[in-house]
Amino acid sequence: MRKSGLKKNSSSRISDEEISLVFKRALTQLNVINENDTALIFHDISYLIERINEIKSLFPKNAIHAIAIKANPLLKVLRQIEKLDVGFEAASLPELYFAEKSGVSPDKIIFDSPAKTVNEIAYALNLGCHINADSLYELDRIAKIIGEEKPKSTIGIRINPQVGTGNIALTSVAGEYSKFGVALKENRAALKAKFEQYEWLTGVHLHIGSQGCSIEMLVKGVEKVLDFTYEVNESLKNNNAGRQINIFDLGGGLPVSYHRDEEAVLMSDYVKTLKHQFKELFTVDFKLITEFGRTIHANTGWVASKVEYVKREPDINTAMIHVGADLFLRKCYRPDDWHHEIIVLDSHGNIKTGIDKNKYMIAGPLCFAGDVIATEIILPPVEQGDYIIIQDTGAYTLSMWSRYNSRQIPKVIGYFNEGKTFEILRERESLDTLLAFWS
Ligand SMILES: Cc1ncc(COP(=O)(O)O)c(C=O)c1O
Repeated sequence: MRKSGLKKNSSSRISDEEISLVFKRALTQLNVINENDTALIFHDISYLIERINEIKSLFPKNAIHAIAIKANPLLKVLRQIEKLDVGFEAASLPELYFAEKSGVSPDKIIFDSPAKTVNEIAYALNLGCHINADSLYELDRIAKIIGEEKPKSTIGIRINPQVGTGNIALTSVAGEYSKFGVALKENRAALKAKFEQYEWLTGVHLHIGSQGCSIEMLVKGVEKVLDFTYEVNESLKNNNAGRQINIFDLGGGLPVSYHRDEEAVLMSDYVKTLKHQFKELFTVDFKLITEFGRTIHANTGWVASKVEYVKREPDINTAMIHVGADLFLRKCYRPDDWHHEIIVLDSHGNIKTGIDKNKYMIAGPLCFAGDVIATEIILPPVEQGDYIIIQDTGAYTLSMWSRYNSRQIPKVIGYFNEGKTFEILRERESLDTLLAFWS
């Protein structure tokens, strides 16, 4: 577990004590929290910066670290990230637009959408960002748009190395079948032909999945795509093509620790393994791209919700809170696949201790029986007015917000140095903004 205080190379969760300290500071600072803030989303920006700097220190200097916008698209967060001289992975036209608005230079943007329209491709080519085609059909579409011109953009193709599904089926994308990329086994020759045909095609891209995939799986995927890369480069050389595949996009997918006693998967271990097995990838022959999202953001965020009521039954208590399936879509719809640790703070931010004789359900405010973010968990006695803290919420939570029941998105607060300073990253959504959404 990450201890209080910044720690280089740390790669895990923020401690309960640190959360309590930051929350107390937020409660006592003017203009941070007000009475309408029934729930709050926190992001530890100092820790986020620390994690990105760690990645930068592990890879070659010219690598592009394209942080996956889908994990956390808050513009103020993107602007903090941009200052660190890294880039962004955009999976849709709006994400591409957000990347531009963050101020990042186009050569650090990677455009990965799996369903790019002609207009979107033209937009990306005009911008000059790197584009990863998702299919052989998309390559042909890009070729038509480019015509005879030499594109400003560099271009790669997403390959599915078919290394198996991890233990979360819905976020695994490298099984025998995947809707993403070009399956390597069935299309090896066709892929190779495209590299021979299109002189602007100089990159390969893979992404194995998000959470639930081991380092071994990620490394196996790299191995398969790298073998293919050598094969193509050999044949380009033999044909005196005067070019090589020289962009290798590793994707994201490093798993994150969500459980209290779970060892974190360290980025340094992943990079050490890659360096050991594939020395050539770390030479001037290749420009590396990474697309991490979850491992950057997940452990840097947490959510606080006031307990509105506690319903007590003979055998079970239910704490009714202000976020549920709207913010925790994955947890509520696939409860066995996802987990968040929960702690209880009193109304002043102190950690509550002890064990209630009844277990607790932590239920959200939506009109849906599955709107439960923790089932039969052991907690200290919870009272109305306490705060339920949901941990490790920095990735794939707000970005997946659901509009069902039209609840207001809570205020989002960034903080530095354990809450010595705060910055409002997004105000609590107003009723009129919501009305505009449905108008
Ligand atoms: C193409 C691509 N790159 C990067 C990512 C980020 O993955 P993660 O957040 O697990 O690092 C994803 C996630 O779905 C993805 O689809």
